[in-house]
Amino acid sequence: MKITVIGAGHVGATAAHRIAEMQLAKEVVLLDIVEGIPQGKALDMYESGPIGLFDSKIYGTNDYQDTADSDIILITAGMARKPGMSREDLLLKNATIVKEVTDRIMQYSSNPIIIMVSNPLDIMTYVSYVRSKLPKERVIGMAGVLDSARFRSFIAEELNVSMKDINAFVLGGHGDSMVPVVKYTNIAGIPLTELLCQEKIDSLVDRTRKGGAEIVNYLKDGSAYYAPAASAVEMIDAIVHDRKRILPCSTLVTGQYGMDNVFIGVPVKIGKNGIEEVLEINLDTAELEALRQSASIVESNCSNLADLLS
Ligand code: LAC
Repeated sequence: MKITVIGAGHVGATAAHRIAEMQLAKEVVLLDIVEGIPQGKALDMYESGPIGLFDSKIYGTNDYQDTADSDIILITAGMARKPGMSREDLLLKNATIVKEVTDRIMQYSSNPIIIMVSNPLDIMTYVSYVRSKLPKERVIGMAGVLDSARFRSFIAEELNVSMKDINAFVLGGHGDSMVPVVKYTNIAGIPLTELLCQEKIDSLVDRTRKGGAEIVNYLKDGSAYYAPAASAVEMIDAIVHDRKRILPCSTLVTGQYGMDNVFIGVPVKIGKNGIEEVLEINLDTAELEALRQSASIVESNCSNLADLLS
């Protein structure tokens, strides 16, 4: 297994280290356009091997040739938000970067699975799908795992229970229009609605929607990276070990939930072939409406990129 991480910023570096520590790949390549940064960070990670006890070879590079024949490529390249910016404010700049990155990686890897982390997430996943010409099952956006993790952590804190017992799904686009699905949220099988009043649930849902911005406001000159990296690596683990995990991921829907030809977060089965199935769960009218509304925002942003992608 060879895994390449594009972008040696906070998300990329944190993810690369985690991939090595979890021994998910024999070879981990960290690529960035800035000279010295991927080489230095990768060497530093490699030197932690005897302590963390991993044997993965990690190396940093500025040369796309070194990414040749990657099985999985994690794309984290692009600008991060500053306070007051929405993820959509990054659209044109990051679309240009993600287009270039995808073109370059596809010169050297013929059939990788691409996992997208760059924002605005669902739109960048679409950009990479269009440019890579890979089957839709092999271009996957990381967002729902992160948004669900945030929701789960807030619920665990509120109820003072283990995070382990909390199941939650956040669907839709990775933005203010995301759709936390309370109906399927449970604590060791007990519906959330039995343990918390509606007002409390609403406030946790609201905090989840704004979870990324909450961290941007603290950091000032960057966005979150520990939870985003952990979420992306959770998806990589499901692929490497062919776990058939059911995770909310951004995928190209083809008729499911009454939506077509748009990347949006829905529950999927994820294994060695990437997305192996899109699950169509029962949503009530308001949730379905919120999901479609979220998809229409993604769609209109994608249509603004027609010139760039032609
Ligand atoms: C966040 C960014 C990474 O949600 O989108 O923190």
